Amino acid sequence: MRIGVVGCGAWGTNHARTLRGFRALAAVADADPGRAEATANGFGCAAMTPDALLADPSIQGVVLALPPHLHAQTALDVLAAGKHLLVEKPMALDLVSGQAIVDAAQAANLVAMTGHLLRFHPAFLALETILQEGRLGQIRYIQSTRIGLGRFFSGADALWDIAPHDLSLILALTGAMPQAVQLETSSVVGVGNDIAHLHLTFPGGVQSHSYVSRLAPRRDRSLTVIAGNGMAVFDDLKPWPQKLALYPNQVWRDGDDVHFTSAEPTYIATPETLPLEAELSHFMACIEGGGTRRSSVAEGLDVLRVLSMAEAGGQSGKAAPARLTGHSAPPVHPNNERLS
Ligand SMILES: NC(=O)c1ccc[n+]([C@@H]2O[C@H](COP(=O)([O-])OP(=O)(O)OC[C@H]3O[C@@H](n4cnc5c(N)ncnc54)[C@H](O)[C@@H]3O)[C@@H](O)[C@H]2O)c1
Repeated sequence: MRIGVVGCGAWGTNHARTLRGFRALAAVADADPGRAEATANGFGCAAMTPDALLADPSIQGVVLALPPHLHAQTALDVLAAGKHLLVEKPMALDLVSGQAIVDAAQAANLVAMTGHLLRFHPAFLALETILQEGRLGQIRYIQSTRIGLGRFFSGADALWDIAPHDLSLILALTGAMPQAVQLETSSVVGVGNDIAHLHLTFPGGVQSHSYVSRLAPRRDRSLTVIAGNGMAVFDDLKPWPQKLALYPNQVWRDGDDVHFTSAEPTYIATPETLPLEAELSHFMACIEGGGTRRSSVAEGLDVLRVLSMAEAGGQSGKAAPARLTGHSAPPVHPNNERLS
C-alpha cells in the first residue's frame, strides 16, 4: 500500500509517522517545500509538491491534514485524481462542498473517510459495544466536554473545528439525526467563536449537550452517557486503564419523589491501541476490501449538517432529516417515566 500525506503540520506529521510505521508512507507534500523536505527526511520518504503527489500513479490513497478551509477543494482534487481519500475534520466548511465530496467519492467508487479519530478510540469502541448490547439500558442523555487552549484556524472557529469530534460520537451512539439544535456561542478573542454550547434533541427525547472551547486554561476531553440502567464516562485524559468507567447508579421516580443510588465505577480494560493507528489501518483495510465502513465522508456530512442546522437557528420545523449513514446503534427510546 502506498499512501501520500498532504499537509506536514502538527497533525499531518503524526499521520506520516504512523503510516511509516505501517511501511505505507510513499510521499509527503506541503505548500512549504522546506517543511515537506524536512518531514520526508525524517521519515525516509519522497518530498513532492501537492500536484505531483496527486499525479503519481503509484500512490493509491491520500491523507489531507490542511488548514480546514482548504480541505473541501483538495479532497475533490484527490478524488478527481482517482485516489482514495482520508480528509481531516472538518472535511468542509459548508454543506454544498461536503455533499460534493460524498457524491464524487460515490461516483468514482473510491474509499473516502473523514478523520473522526475518536470513532477509532478503543474506549469509545468498548462503550459503543456495551450500549449496543443493552448493558446500560437505553440512552437518555449525552454530555461531552472538549476544552483547552488553541488552535485558532482561520475560517474554522471553535464550533467547526472542535465540535465535529463530539458530534461524530454522539451521532454514532444515537444512530439518529437531531430534530432540534440549539447553539450558544461566545467570541472573546474576536475572530469567530471561541466557546460553543450545542444542545441537541433527538426523536424519542434523547438529548445531548456539547461544550467546546479553545479558550480554557485546563483541558477536558470527556463524554458522559446517562442511560436507563447506569452511566458511563469516557475520559480521554485518564490513564488507559481508567479511560472508560461504568457507574451502576440508579435513579427512579415514585410519583413526585425522585430516588437514587450511587455506586463506585467499574473500569473497562481496553487495548492500548493508538486511535490514529486504528484509523489509518481501517483506511487501508477499506482500500484493500472496498467500501468505507466507519467514519465515511457521508458520516462527516451528517456532522456538517448538524453544525449548519445549529448556525441556521437550530429548529428544522420539520421531521428530523434522514441520516445519510446507517449505524448499528440501538434505537432511540421513547421517553419513559422511569429513568432506571
Ligand atoms: N482528528 C484529529 O484528532 C485532529 C487533530 C489535530 C488536527 N486535526 C485537523 O488536521 C488539520 C491540520 O491541522 P494541523 O494542526 O496539522 O495544522 P497545521 O497548521 O499545523 O498544518 C497545516 C499544514 O498545511 C500546509 N498547507 C497550507 N496550505 C497548503 C496547501 N495549499 N497545500 C499543501 N499544504 C498546505 C501548511 O504549510 C502546514 O504545514 C486541521 O483540519 C485540524 O483540525 C485533526
